[in-house]
Amino acid sequence: MTVQPATLERPKGSADLLVRLSADDMAAVDALIRERCDSPVPLIPALAEHLIGAGGKRVRPMLTVAAARLSGGRYVTPDGPLKLAASVEFIHTATLLHDDVVDGSQLRRGKVAAHLIWGGASSVLVGDFLFAGAFEMMVEAGSMRALDILARASRVIAEGEVLQLTRAHDLDLDKATYLQIISAKTAELFAAAAESGAVVAGASDADAASLRSYGMNLGLAFQLVDDALDYGGVSEVLGKNTGDDFREGKATLPLILALQRTGEREAAFWDRTVGKLKQEEGDFERARSLILDSGALKATLDLAQDYAEKAKADLAGFPADDWRLSLEALADFTVSRAS
Ligand code: IPE
Ligand code: IPE
Ligand code: MG
Ligand code: MG
Repeated sequence: MTVQPATLERPKGSADLLVRLSADDMAAVDALIRERCDSPVPLIPALAEHLIGAGGKRVRPMLTVAAARLSGGRYVTPDGPLKLAASVEFIHTATLLHDDVVDGSQLRRGKVAAHLIWGGASSVLVGDFLFAGAFEMMVEAGSMRALDILARASRVIAEGEVLQLTRAHDLDLDKATYLQIISAKTAELFAAAAESGAVVAGASDADAASLRSYGMNLGLAFQLVDDALDYGGVSEVLGKNTGDDFREGKATLPLILALQRTGEREAAFWDRTVGKLKQEEGDFERARSLILDSGALKATLDLAQDYAEKAKADLAGFPADDWRLSLEALADFTVSRAS
């Protein structure tokens, strides 16, 4: 089902400049990613290639590379930022493999989710392989501080996922707890990706903190938009199914706001579909209409825009070169993206 264009009208932004500036670095990062997926155990490269070969936007490793470049490029080891960027994408890929098992999702990057082909156990274990590979590359990058930042992020992501799991089907979930969840499960890796890139490139403490804050605000905007797209997006464009959050009874901001705005009138509907997870044909479409008509979707995107503005403001102290411009454009792209 498609959405009326007016519903998701958002400011235009583009990741083109960042993609262009980081092309050489990202080619090296990609080579590293492919190399480190290799294993004498055939299932590992087969399953990893299924997901990694399907692409993905590579936003997080581009952040690491850009933060390193913006920080002057005085690298601790010559390929330190590349190793960190590859490890950031490995962490992300591992969480996606785990996440699709946890969420029971069927589609990822336009392909059948790996767990539906190889089974949940294989997906979880190959996710562990990628996590471990990420840590090897972090050590090779030669910065204890960067290792500390990304190790901490890995722990925080897991905490966020567990917190979300324990609050599923919770009709009382408030906005503050929701923000705590998305800050941990998503924004923390964006923050760590940028901060670790800065640190390994010899940035001052103040610059590393600014880039961390940029990543955090960008990551919050990113997940807010992701949660809006789960109701307002188009599966074929997204490469993952819309409606996954509703079917799981996951209280994301569009749902939380719609509950607040329509709760009295629609209490029985929300209690049955989200609280008790007893869903019937057409329920998602009804939830979607309530979320659109109550303005909950627009409010979610407006909040994402606020965080994107904060992210851009975090860059104010850096020279206004192409790298800074590319990160500013990335913040706008994050809010305008449809996939
Ligand atoms: C998906 O992240 C998981 C979320 C945090 C929403 P991306 O949208 O960056 O996924 P890929 O890597 O581009 O597929
Ligand atoms: C994204 O989780 C965050 C992590 C993978 C840790 P979601 O479940 O919200 O994202 P999608 O919609 O499956 O990509
Ligand atoms: Mg998911
Ligand atoms: Mg999830």
